[in-house]
Amino acid sequence: MSNHLFELSQINKRVVSNVSFTMKEKERLVIFGPSGAGKSTLLHLFNRMEDPDAGVIYYKDKELNTYSIPTLRKEVGLVLQEPHLFPGTVEDNLKFGPSLFDEWSPNQGEKLLGYVNLSKEYLNKDVTELSGGQRQRVSLARTLANNPEVLLLDEPTSSLDEQNIELIEHDLQRLVEEEHVSLVLVTHSMQQAKRLGTTGIYMEEGKIKEHGQMEKLLSDPETEELKQFLQSNSI
Ligand SMILES: Nc1ncnc2c1ncn2[C@@H]1O[C@H](COP(=O)(O)OP(=O)(O)OP(=O)(O)O)[C@@H](O)[C@H]1O
Ligand SMILES: [Mg+2]
Repeated sequence: MSNHLFELSQINKRVVSNVSFTMKEKERLVIFGPSGAGKSTLLHLFNRMEDPDAGVIYYKDKELNTYSIPTLRKEVGLVLQEPHLFPGTVEDNLKFGPSLFDEWSPNQGEKLLGYVNLSKEYLNKDVTELSGGQRQRVSLARTLANNPEVLLLDEPTSSLDEQNIELIEHDLQRLVEEEHVSLVLVTHSMQQAKRLGTTGIYMEEGKIKEHGQMEKLLSDPETEELKQFLQSNSI
């Protein structure tokens, strides 16, 4: 068995054109680049929120479309920029995923909230009573309820203030270190990319311009495109 988590081969989807790369287990991959580059489109392909128009994606050496969607989304969880919670209590939201597999036990709620630094008193709160940062943390906890192996994050902190960004980043660091979750993170913040990423992909107009160690991409970019992008983002 290879230690490939994902392998994308000649993928086309809208602006994304002829993209190929592999991602290893336990990798923390950051996808960055200008608006409209195709970052979200690419991310949505990883758990079949969208399917490619051409090309093949492998997950753990098997074609992605051989997994059932519920199984795939349980293992490969997605957290979006805006928290998307269902009406009801925090607990209603947390138990939704596990209940589909008959895997919810009531004492899980406290543990899940622990991952995102919320006390168990929040379990019975209605989601309308939460602040933006708290909603995003509950949204992350809900994805974690499925015990995912991979977390897909699309600008998860871009609508949060500095304090909440720090909290979420701290939660993510812990997950990576203690639960060995792999990350695919789309972000506009190069500071966040530096803090959370081990490898990076720089995209422009649907193409990969550079792919390598995050530190190297930031300190020693090879392409003119990435050099300019970093300059205009004042790195
Ligand atoms: N559902 C859709 N239908 C048609 N075109 C779309 C759809 N979603 C995105 N696009 C187009 O595909 C291109 C890439 O969009 P995408 O959302 O992947 O970019 P992005 O890199 O995530 O940008 P941003 O940084 O602004 O989020 C854009 O030109 C966008 O208009
Ligand atoms: Mg996007």
